[in-house]
Amino acid sequence: MAFSKKLKQLFSSAPKKNKWDGLIEAYKPWLPVTKNTPIITLKEGATPLIEVKSIANRIGKGAKVYIKYDGLNPTGSFKDRGMTMAISKAKEAGCEAVICASTGNTSASAAAYATKGGMKSFVVIPDGYVAQGKLAQALVYGAEVIAIKGNFDKALDIVRELSEKYPITLVNSVNPYRLQGQKTAAFEIVENLGDAPDWLCIPMGNAGNITAYWMGFKEFFHAKKSKQLPRMMGFQASGSAPLVENKIINNPETIATAIRIGNPVNKEKALLAKESSNGKFTSVTDSEIIESYKILGREEGIFCEPASAASVAGLLKVKDDVPKNSTIVCVLTGNGLKDPDCAIKNNDSIFHTGIDPEINSIIKTMGF
Ligand code: F0G
Repeated sequence: MAFSKKLKQLFSSAPKKNKWDGLIEAYKPWLPVTKNTPIITLKEGATPLIEVKSIANRIGKGAKVYIKYDGLNPTGSFKDRGMTMAISKAKEAGCEAVICASTGNTSASAAAYATKGGMKSFVVIPDGYVAQGKLAQALVYGAEVIAIKGNFDKALDIVRELSEKYPITLVNSVNPYRLQGQKTAAFEIVENLGDAPDWLCIPMGNAGNITAYWMGFKEFFHAKKSKQLPRMMGFQASGSAPLVENKIINNPETIATAIRIGNPVNKEKALLAKESSNGKFTSVTDSEIIESYKILGREEGIFCEPASAASVAGLLKVKDDVPKNSTIVCVLTGNGLKDPDCAIKNNDSIFHTGIDPEINSIIKTMGF
């Protein structure tokens, strides 16, 4: 057989990868877009759902536990799901600049999508409380970064006022298009599992994501794409738990800087999601967060940021309440690479430094 013919045969029998053009293309009928909406995408969405036996074994009772690994989005967090929608709609409206307050991930995502859409971005962050990776991203994607001597809640107050007075679009989760995009994560979970899980465990900061997931699960349920709705189990860090304590926290503190928020704007919607789903909000300590962060890394090969590990820490904290044979999904909202300082400080691995570059000293170090 001629070589070229053989080659042709080989290629035609190769498995074809499904084409993925981002979540707006995938879920258009479910989203507020028209044929006139310019789609600004970095091909976000379609993130993996990974079974984690090490967590299930800690629960027992026949539980099946999955991770929705949304840290694998283009800028490393779930924010990209909302940002593709918010930026596409801002572009459609002719907007030239966007602004957000952020604990880091929203600013990284806003900066990337604004740049992709040919817009300018301003990001207002709490000085000294944004993880290195996130700050690096905002700067590299070309945002103008304004670090204030105040926390996220203060930054959000300021950008809300600014966007009302100046021609600049706010892309925090008060922008309704953000939650529309983020609800697609719930669609993907239902499509992967063939139904909604019994429990959805999720970290909460400004409480937009839990609201978006609940919206997504409800829409698919009403369209008969799932047979059930999950209980919405929300988790906050104990030093920043306004939704658990039911009061504004003036000086929120936690190692999980992404969710260092004392006055969530989506409070009412999140409470509604909890009540209508028979869910529960619980707080977890920083050491419980770090414990789960380490388990995911060492036992599952999954590296998330501390705020994300709150969902797994929370599940382990309330494990006695898990009914028999439940299916549970924990959302890991952000990638571990976002916060290298936390990673270097919080691991149980062996790290030898200053070793002579000779085979003998390396063998000795390895204990042979
Ligand atoms: N996990 C991560 C990694 C986050 O960055 C955030 C929020 C949350 C969870 C909480 O999500 O606010 O919808 O309840 N980060 C925002 C930011 C506040 O500015 O990046 P939420």
